Amino acid sequence: MRRWANYNLNTLLQKRMKDYIKVDEWKIIEEGFNPHYNKISESIFSLGNGRMGQRANFEEAYSGETLQGNYVAGVYYPDKTRVGWWKNGYPEYFAKVLNAANWIGIDIFIDGEQLDLAKCEVSSFRRELDMKDGFLKRAFTARTANGKELAVESIRFCSMAEDESGAIKYSIKPLNFSGQITITPFVDGDVVNKDSNYDEKFWDEVKKETWQTGGYLQMRTKKTGFEVATGMEFVLLLDGEITNPKTEPFQKEKYIAAKIELKAQQGQDITILKYAANLSSQNYQAADLAGKVKETLARISGKGFETLLAEQAHAWAAKWDLNDIIIEGDAAAQQAIRFNIFQLNQTYTGEDDRLNIGPKGFTGEKYGGSTYWDTEAYCVPFYLSTADQKVTRNLLLYRYKQLDKAIENAKLLGFKNGAALYPMVTMDGTECHNEWEITFEEIHRNGAIAYAIFNYVRYTGDEAYLADYGLEVLIAISRFWAQRINWSDEKKQYVMLGVTGPNEYENNVNNNWYTNKLAIWCMDYTIDVIGKVKTKAREKYRALINKINFEESSEIANFKDIIENMYFPYFEEKHVFLQQDGYLDKEQILVKDLPESERPINQKWSWDRILRSCYIKQADVLQGIYFFEDEFDVETIRRNFDFYEPRTVHESSLSPCVHSILAAKLGDEARAYEFYLRTSRLDLDDYNNDTEDGCHITSMAGTWMAVVEGFGGMRVRYGRLSFQPFLPDKWKSFSFHVGFRGTLLNIKVSKDGVHIKNLSGKETSVNVYYKEQLVRANDELLVEA
Ligand code: BGC
Repeated sequence: MRRWANYNLNTLLQKRMKDYIKVDEWKIIEEGFNPHYNKISESIFSLGNGRMGQRANFEEAYSGETLQGNYVAGVYYPDKTRVGWWKNGYPEYFAKVLNAANWIGIDIFIDGEQLDLAKCEVSSFRRELDMKDGFLKRAFTARTANGKELAVESIRFCSMAEDESGAIKYSIKPLNFSGQITITPFVDGDVVNKDSNYDEKFWDEVKKETWQTGGYLQMRTKKTGFEVATGMEFVLLLDGEITNPKTEPFQKEKYIAAKIELKAQQGQDITILKYAANLSSQNYQAADLAGKVKETLARISGKGFETLLAEQAHAWAAKWDLNDIIIEGDAAAQQAIRFNIFQLNQTYTGEDDRLNIGPKGFTGEKYGGSTYWDTEAYCVPFYLSTADQKVTRNLLLYRYKQLDKAIENAKLLGFKNGAALYPMVTMDGTECHNEWEITFEEIHRNGAIAYAIFNYVRYTGDEAYLADYGLEVLIAISRFWAQRINWSDEKKQYVMLGVTGPNEYENNVNNNWYTNKLAIWCMDYTIDVIGKVKTKAREKYRALINKINFEESSEIANFKDIIENMYFPYFEEKHVFLQQDGYLDKEQILVKDLPESERPINQKWSWDRILRSCYIKQADVLQGIYFFEDEFDVETIRRNFDFYEPRTVHESSLSPCVHSILAAKLGDEARAYEFYLRTSRLDLDDYNNDTEDGCHITSMAGTWMAVVEGFGGMRVRYGRLSFQPFLPDKWKSFSFHVGFRGTLLNIKVSKDGVHIKNLSGKETSVNVYYKEQLVRANDELLVEA
């Protein structure tokens, strides 16, 4: 195994990381009150259920540093963007995921003094995210300025079984006093987005209603007109007994609440159960929302907190059965991988093909909750292996349904004949990113969308998808590439000018190797799929080519001509694919020779300096090698890895996982592990100093890939799974589940070898270390190391 001289990734990471989260295999634990880390914790301890998500804000008032965030999937606002100058084809707005009405709020007053942890002495503070059962627990003791001491405990969750609902159990115990306690559960729609460009508020009130034990508030987004009804219903318990106190419901603009006044006794247990629902006009007629929110509240409060919590544990158990990864011998790694899997499941459940996976999921505003190429390039492999195939199918259908808009988008930029350019960033299919170098030039996202279709069909064998939906998308994307290239008289080859590759640290380059590679691969794959669909679903093929006016022979001939005559930059001396034309003119100082004080360069350097440097933000040539690995021999992969990795600063969270997988492929186990560490605890240890904005949800799928495709060496070849695993030095064993074409396998890699359990009633063959193994239904076998 090769070790790398001067390799300082680990030292760098240790210097940057925060280390306040306690290690536990199933829980994320924060002990002690860390107000300066509060926004980071609010991200890490976020909850979600695919339809709604909530940062770990406190229920009671908090005047310290906080980023309030409650998000309802698919509800966004087109915030007018600020740009210096306008260019044809620029979108007018940047879509933002909206901070929606606060449903968790419970104000507490003790003898007139508001409970606010920023103004109290706090002790025994503990926040705990129970990933096994899917809830957040917080406990603390507070001493107010007036010397009143109370113990508080809250448990809350966003229900997986009732995915428009959440529930909170909030308990208070006066420790050194008896006195007046006022509890005010509320719903507050007067919320802001921190990233609002013009400090505008994005919601208008539609209507509201209150009653003795609850109420609802219906709000409408400006411009997009989404309506969301947020309701609450509460129950009070004194020393565990339900009581019916007289409450004082009240309302003000964009706000509903009910005040409960109590004469509390020292040592008494006062608990409020707050049930909440967030219903959106995406799923109901706006006029029906009020009735529906009341129905939902009646149903969930009727079930009661403990039943909802049990349902939650049950729903999570079903998820963990399919996608847990067990690591023996390294509790920190175990915690990290579960955290990644937990957050991915909280973000996207695959129930609704109008929804997708924002790079920060429901954990923050950054990246607007919008869809990026991250979904197709990074998240698809995770959902393919760990969820029903309809989940990935829905991710593909999301893009299929937005094809018309992608064609429209390409038209705006001067393309024709049904060419499609999918947006770089979108909510509903419309482009909503407006930096020209990304919007117009980072066109490789089109290729990732085609690659996801290929990946889905390769994995599932669902070729019917191609005839029904996939081919239409592939032709539109290939038409785009065919128009985006041009013939160079000088080179006597086709070239692609003015693009930005995944490496966003260089824009407007000519012949980015990765983009050129993807473009011709797309055309090649499209031709291949045309052949398949034509033979297997002739009628559908005919209907499709009529619908889209596909001139079969001339268009295919054109694709073939481009495939055969595409130019690829190459560095002869080192025998590596060249990132782009002119890359070698750049000063070639390796990352290891950059003073640490200058990193990350995106925070320390001017933009022009970054652009002129040879530094690569994330896998670019190596992304192409990762996608099309089977086309390259190991020595080619090694040469390219050895050339590009030392020039890569990994300043995108999407970078380390691809490097980890390639290092594993090259047998460099130590580096594979180092890159894995960098991705797996990225948020828990806040390596990049940006977790306060939200967690890196899409790169979490990359972490999963690093374990399963990297250490597990899993690939799909010839319609079958193959494994080429190794065991990281520090681990005793690791195991994971993969679903594949109607089978569910548990793969455990230990010092003895590879244990394969077939948990399904269908026999299957897999390849382990290049040898075929038959695994009978409900049987297991060991392939010795
Ligand atoms: C990366 C992109 C990615 C985006 C959202 C950027 O920093 O460079 O590749 O799509 O983040 O995750």
